[in-house]
Amino acid sequence: MKKYQQMIESVSRSGATAAASEHSIFEELNVTIDHFDRSPLALIQILHRAQELFGYLRDDVVQYISRELRIPVSKVHGVIGFYGFFSRIPRGKHTITVCTGTACYVRGAVRLLRGIEKQLEIESGDTTTDGRYSLRCARCVGACGIAPVLVIDDDVHGDVASKRVKNLIRQYK
Ligand code: FES
Repeated sequence: MKKYQQMIESVSRSGATAAASEHSIFEELNVTIDHFDRSPLALIQILHRAQELFGYLRDDVVQYISRELRIPVSKVHGVIGFYGFFSRIPRGKHTITVCTGTACYVRGAVRLLRGIEKQLEIESGDTTTDGRYSLRCARCVGACGIAPVLVIDDDVHGDVASKRVKNLIRQYK
C-alpha cells in the first residue's frame, strides 16, 4: 500500500514538474513576444523562437501566438506552410535538409534526395520511426557554389555525391 502511495506521489510530482517547465517555456516565449511589442510584423521571429523553445509548432502554441499578436490562426498557418524551416510535427534528433534550389537541382539534388529517402525509408517531410532523423527540402540555402548541398542540423555539406551520403548520414547518430 505504501509503495502504491509512493508511486502516485512520484507520478503526480513528475506531472507537476512537466507543467512547471511547460509554464516556464511559455514565459520565455512571452519575453520574445514582449520584446517585439506584440507586433504582427514580428511573426516570423516569434515563430522561430517558439520552434526553438518547443521543438516544433504545436497547435496550442500556434493558437497562443495568434491570440497574442491578434493575427488569425489561418494566417499564421499560411506563414508556417510557406517557409520550409517551420515544422508542425515533432522533429527527429537530426534534421537533414536537401537543397532543391536551381543550382542544386541541376547538379543532382533530386537523385540525392531519393537516395536518402530510400536509406531512411521515409519521404521528405517525415521523421524516421526511431525519431533519429527528419528529412526535408529547402530552396537554396545560399551555398550554390558547392552544389549539391545537404545541411544536417547546422552543418553544411557541399559537393555531396549520392555515394558519399550514406556514410555522411551515419555519422549523425
Ligand atoms: S540552390 Fe542549393 S545552395 Fe543555392
